[in-house]
Amino acid sequence: MTHLAQKKIILGITGGIAAYKSAELTRRLKEQGADVRVVMTPGAKEFITPLTFQALSGNPVSDSLLDRDAEAAMGHIELARWADLILVAPASADFLARLSHGFANDLLSTLCLATSAPIAVAPAMNQLMWKNKATQANCHTLKQRGILLLGPNSGDQACGETGLGRMMEPDQLVSATASLLRNNDPQAGPLHGKKVVITAGPTREALDPIRFISNHSSGKMGFALARAALAAGAQTIIIAGPVYQETPNGAERINTVTAKGMYRASLEHAPSADIFIATAAVADYRPLQIAGQKIKKSAKQISIELTRNPDIIAAVAALPEKPFTVGFAAETNDLINYAKGKLQNKKLDLIVANDVARSDIGFNSDQNAVTVISADKHQNLAQANKDQIAEQLIKIIASAL
Ligand SMILES: Cc1cc2nc3c(=O)[nH]c(=O)nc-3n(C[C@H](O)[C@H](O)[C@H](O)COP(=O)(O)O)c2cc1C
Repeated sequence: MTHLAQKKIILGITGGIAAYKSAELTRRLKEQGADVRVVMTPGAKEFITPLTFQALSGNPVSDSLLDRDAEAAMGHIELARWADLILVAPASADFLARLSHGFANDLLSTLCLATSAPIAVAPAMNQLMWKNKATQANCHTLKQRGILLLGPNSGDQACGETGLGRMMEPDQLVSATASLLRNNDPQAGPLHGKKVVITAGPTREALDPIRFISNHSSGKMGFALARAALAAGAQTIIIAGPVYQETPNGAERINTVTAKGMYRASLEHAPSADIFIATAAVADYRPLQIAGQKIKKSAKQISIELTRNPDIIAAVAALPEKPFTVGFAAETNDLINYAKGKLQNKKLDLIVANDVARSDIGFNSDQNAVTVISADKHQNLAQANKDQIAEQLIKIIASAL
């Protein structure tokens, strides 16, 4: 069970093509134990019917402000007080504009004005509508007022274009909503209210359409840290390379493949993070040329020229307002000296050194044993399973913050 259990959520739906995904979102929120009441704008009802949401939420759907019967049942102020959270998904450009200007000309915008509950919005629109300066200015205003913007994602759009503007997927929205509720929970842990970004797993660097260079990283340490960060109350984003690890409940996962992709995702999320933990085993080099066709087995010997990949953690540590930056040094020899060098050269706050030459700990193992090094001290964490190591690391990081 996540922080969604028994939470009262108003799911606001506005008039966008992504409204069909909100049916799935309603189901997912219900599965997590939330009590969901759907509020639809008149526009939303042009895309999907209230009956669908009534059946999925098990509650009547509210869709009108000036409605005598609705007011007599659960009036708008009562509904605004009822909510632990208002989640608007999809949030149309028009709705974002109304919300940022404090309009109260339909039920949903009125509820948003009349509630003391946290509000999260998941914008969904054509990429040019999203990029438009008016939309960006409205979103900036909303963020400044403490409204949480979830997404949008990038990708193919219903209108046939490609770019930023897709609504976050229902799973991602459920995770983000759970994090938001956890962060608003006064009982939350030592990283309550903090945003933690963790990279995990290997990267793959293509040689040709079917082959790549990679490494043995399983992502286990990174995902264990994500679970520990969540348990400590942090909003947690995990930027994963290609790994078969289950996304922890409540975490947002961003899947990447190459070092360049992981770099882009990291630099997108690190500036707003409090803590950045780089556990990923990022390929230092990638092939200079990716063959357009499968490389044939004709020549006796071939050479592959490699070029340096961008250094993710160094770039994060060099940000003007850098998060508390934690690196991992996976080495096979002279571990502590290499780790210390990395701490200083890359201007990290903490480095976790682990010996990947040992088969009982490190890459594919469930166990690890590490040395945590900061500018002024060393701390050995004895061999234990990766979840226990992760818990200890998160405690060390929380107290160092
Ligand atoms: C087919 C169609 C699809 C639309 N999709 C979107 C969309 O994805 N995002 C958006 O912001 N507006 C979209 N619009 C425009 C909105 O429906 C319109 O701005 C409406 O006024 C939104 O009202 P509401 O926010 O009160 O629901 C779409 C319009 C049409 C006709």
